[in-house]
Amino acid sequence: MNVNEPKQGNALLSETPLLQVDNLVKRFGKGCSYCQQIENLQGDEESDIESARPQNQCPVCGSVLGCAGISFELYPGEILGVVGESGSGKSTMVRSLYFDDEVTSGSMTLAGYRDGQVNLFEASSQQKRYIRNHLMGMVYQNPYLGLRMNFSSSGNIAEKLFAAGSFHVGSIRDRAKELLERVEIPLKRMDERPSNFSGGMQQRVQISKALANNPPLLLLDEVTTGLDLSVQAKVLDLIRSIQQELGVSMIVVSHDLGVIRMLSDRTMVLKQGRVVETGLTDQILEDPQHPYTQLLVHSLL
Ligand SMILES: Nc1ncnc2c1ncn2[C@@H]1O[C@H](COP(=O)(O)OP(=O)(O)O)[C@@H](O)[C@H]1O
Ligand SMILES: [Mg+2]
Ligand SMILES: [Zn+2]
Repeated sequence: MNVNEPKQGNALLSETPLLQVDNLVKRFGKGCSYCQQIENLQGDEESDIESARPQNQCPVCGSVLGCAGISFELYPGEILGVVGESGSGKSTMVRSLYFDDEVTSGSMTLAGYRDGQVNLFEASSQQKRYIRNHLMGMVYQNPYLGLRMNFSSSGNIAEKLFAAGSFHVGSIRDRAKELLERVEIPLKRMDERPSNFSGGMQQRVQISKALANNPPLLLLDEVTTGLDLSVQAKVLDLIRSIQQELGVSMIVVSHDLGVIRMLSDRTMVLKQGRVVETGLTDQILEDPQHPYTQLLVHSLL
């Protein structure tokens, strides 16, 4: 496939979604009847929320609403950007999708899992493990969350292949080589621990590990935040070209609109755990509709 193809835009939108999320709620804390009232408020009721729920925190019981009523679809081969200021619920959302956090309520279906008929949030822990190993990959902002720093880089990939049922040592080694080569880690360093590597290299090892079992869905949370600009650009290029090569769908979370502009076809804007606007990235950036998005785009937040 040609790696220089332009972003695919909304031609994708006619297909069946790969991923569908409905009304995802994640509350930190035990909740109360007041929490329940505000958790499921939507759209037009937002001004009520402003007054009802300053800083995401329930004034009655002190619980924090990380995500409230988030719904969206992701199409095959699409990159969806998720943007919002710090604390808007971006990480909580992807952690929930990857089962790192247990959701309070909501549903998620994947077209590749039992024909999209099962709410994955209600799956057994064994099923969730299967989904994490075969159908999703996750790349964290902090490489210490995604990598075992006391394993070699090839060992990190081997672990992931092993978890998906590959036991042939030779083929595991070949696949590790292939993946590390793809993300431009010198093969002579494949048996080194990622703790010896620079931040940009650690993110590249994380990406190769996340892709080990060819998942149709990759989740990336602020993967370039904190890296030097030139290193950031290389990692973003890598993500773009991998997407075009493999056709993997991605959710790219970033507070940085430059990252969103470069990678995502469509963008969803979060504010205090709620979706305030979703649209084609160009439209969101050039002609934002929601006042919060306008502030964000004009760097006023
Ligand atoms: N483990 C936790 N316990 C309590 N509150 C949390 C926890 N994790 C996140 N939060 C809160 O949830 C909200 C969303 O956080 P987060 O998803 O990290 O935002 P973002 O990634 O957009 O910066 C914040 O108010 C944060 O303080
Ligand atoms: Mg975050
Ligand atoms: Zn409460």
